[in-house]
Amino acid sequence: MTDPNARPDFSHNDFYHRYLLRQVPRQCDRALDIGCGTGLFARRLAQRAQTVEAIDRAPEVIDQARALSHDTPNVHYAEADVADYDLGTARYDFISGIASIHHMPFAETITKLRDALAPGGVLAILGLCRYATRADYLPDLVAAPANLAAKAAVRAKARLGSRAAGSGPAPSMDAQMTLPEIRTEAVRLLPGAVIRRRLFWRYSLIYRQRSSSTR
Ligand SMILES: C[S@@+](CC[C@H](N)C(=O)[O-])C[C@H]1O[C@@H](n2cnc3c(N)ncnc32)[C@H](O)[C@@H]1O
Repeated sequence: MTDPNARPDFSHNDFYHRYLLRQVPRQCDRALDIGCGTGLFARRLAQRAQTVEAIDRAPEVIDQARALSHDTPNVHYAEADVADYDLGTARYDFISGIASIHHMPFAETITKLRDALAPGGVLAILGLCRYATRADYLPDLVAAPANLAAKAAVRAKARLGSRAAGSGPAPSMDAQMTLPEIRTEAVRLLPGAVIRRRLFWRYSLIYRQRSSSTR
């Protein structure tokens, strides 16, 4: 996972890259990353897939992603909104969305991505959800100190000195759906999907398309 462009600080999203990459099918010809940002995950994915399409609606991040990816010619970036992006008729062996799906209409986006999966293809989402109950905050008792420790360890390793590591992040204010709501939609749209609450204010959703085309 060595990448000269990896972020020097601890990132709650990047922390889960290894887990997400483990979901990539052994034979992965075509992959898609939605809301790719500056493309760190797309570049890592490109080591496991023949070609990666990486899309983001923000022109400035796509410019940065392209500038950072000269050594990774099998990543193709597009500045586009996922809702408008023409997925064509080819099918993807792996589709990822990291900290991006909460910016998009959930059901429409999930349906579009599911229908673009090849037989046996995998949809892997790392998402943020809305906290609604006190119980949602309980994992923070572990996550907050773990976050500080991880930040300190990464900074020590990177020899960035002892500037304040910052407090733990609040769950995204942008996220509209609670985890139970996401589970309900997943049962409806992605039967068999595995959803897990994650320590650092995230959930993961992994869905594998059936090998036959019947749904
Ligand atoms: C929090 S950033 C995460 C970026 C990257 N996936 C990462 O892990 O660093 C969310 C990204 O999703 C992009 N985004 C949000 N809504 C989008 C949409 N409808 N279509 C394409 N990109 C979108 C934003 O521009 C932003 O770059």
